[in-house]
Amino acid sequence: MPEINVALVGYAFMGRAHSNAWRQVPRFFSPRLVPRLKVICGRDRARVEKAAEQLGWEEWATDWREVVGRKDIGIVDVSTPGDTHAEIAIAAARAGKAVLCEKPLANDVRQAKAMLAAVEKAGVPHMLCHNYRRAPAVMLARELVASGKLGRIRHYRGTYLQDWPVDPELPLYWRFRREKAGSGALGDILSHSLDLGRFVLGSEVTEVAAALETFVKRRPLPEDPARKGRVTVDDAALALVRFANGAVGSIEGTRFATGRQNYNRFEVNGSRGSVAFNMERMNELEYFSRDDDVKTQGFRQIMATEPEHAYCGAWWPAGHIIGYEHTFTHTVYDFLEAVASGRPVKPDFEDGVRNQLVLEAISKAARTRRWLKVAPLSN
Ligand SMILES: NC(=O)c1ccc[n+]([C@@H]2O[C@H](COP(=O)([O-])OP(=O)(O)OC[C@H]3O[C@@H](n4cnc5c(N)ncnc54)[C@H](O)[C@@H]3O)[C@@H](O)[C@H]2O)c1
Repeated sequence: MPEINVALVGYAFMGRAHSNAWRQVPRFFSPRLVPRLKVICGRDRARVEKAAEQLGWEEWATDWREVVGRKDIGIVDVSTPGDTHAEIAIAAARAGKAVLCEKPLANDVRQAKAMLAAVEKAGVPHMLCHNYRRAPAVMLARELVASGKLGRIRHYRGTYLQDWPVDPELPLYWRFRREKAGSGALGDILSHSLDLGRFVLGSEVTEVAAALETFVKRRPLPEDPARKGRVTVDDAALALVRFANGAVGSIEGTRFATGRQNYNRFEVNGSRGSVAFNMERMNELEYFSRDDDVKTQGFRQIMATEPEHAYCGAWWPAGHIIGYEHTFTHTVYDFLEAVASGRPVKPDFEDGVRNQLVLEAISKAARTRRWLKVAPLSN
């Protein structure tokens, strides 16, 4: 199989998750392009060198600008904080590279639209890493909705709950700073619940009402813990939403749900049935059907691990469960297939702009305490 050289920018949390995905994908799938882990970038020389060795990259670099322009690079993978996405992705697109970018696509709509315009102008493949779409049980939920088995969809209820920053002594690192992260729980985790809603329902959010809250307003400065700095993002974001298909929904992202670590759950209720998914039990899908015999009716637990379920045939025998990291392997597999075939793949930068338009509407609705229409893509 022909190879394609990958350059990864960022070597921490997502850097490790993406490295694992690029490494694993040809071992379990048969992509038409085999990724070569060519170069990993970061700013700290010693740490990026160590990351290259540990994560299996051939080379390391401290300036992403040199790397994205290299002739031998085919794919640029952006796994850095949100304030850097636009600059890196646009430079990569202009250099003719296929671009995979972490979510949220950018820190605001203007940047996200500039990124979409750049990849479209360059005609390069692009993908947004909303990896939870690629859990087999989530794919099954979407399939059940699309098949009509749930009937007319009335509700989407998405909650993404975490508790890692509950301690007020946790330093003010980039995720608490608007100029770096764009927003807090809103862009970080509510964005996933929103993307899952759009994906599973196959419908766009048209209107929102919302509340944002910052519980811990000041945190110790990382460089001088005796002093404190202001938290400029939300700790919790809650929205009521309307979808174009008539469904109403609630979407919540909070980092202050004590006891919940990665509680990424959604439920869809339709006129004929419901589905429910929880990332903490990601191999399972709960399914209720009103078409079942009334005496034995009830939610059933489907193990989405059969070879017939998306991606599962590539892994283990049925019931031998998969985990968090597999969602990234599925993402890069589909991206490689798109690069090889020239066919588009979802979610792409257009989804990134659409998500960003909703996030911006939520932010504004929370400020003004009113229902707001989501701006159209073309504005
Ligand atoms: N898909 C998911 O489930 C998921 C989960 C977590 C984070 N994310 C997203 O991934 C991105 C990165 O988050 P993370 O949790 O990996 O953050 P992190 O803090 O763990 O890692 C950020 C990395 O970016 C590097 N970096 C920062 N600025 C840079 C620059 N100017 N040039 C080169 N390297 C730079 C840092 O050195 C570090 O290696 C964010 O957009 C975040 O929203 C996605």
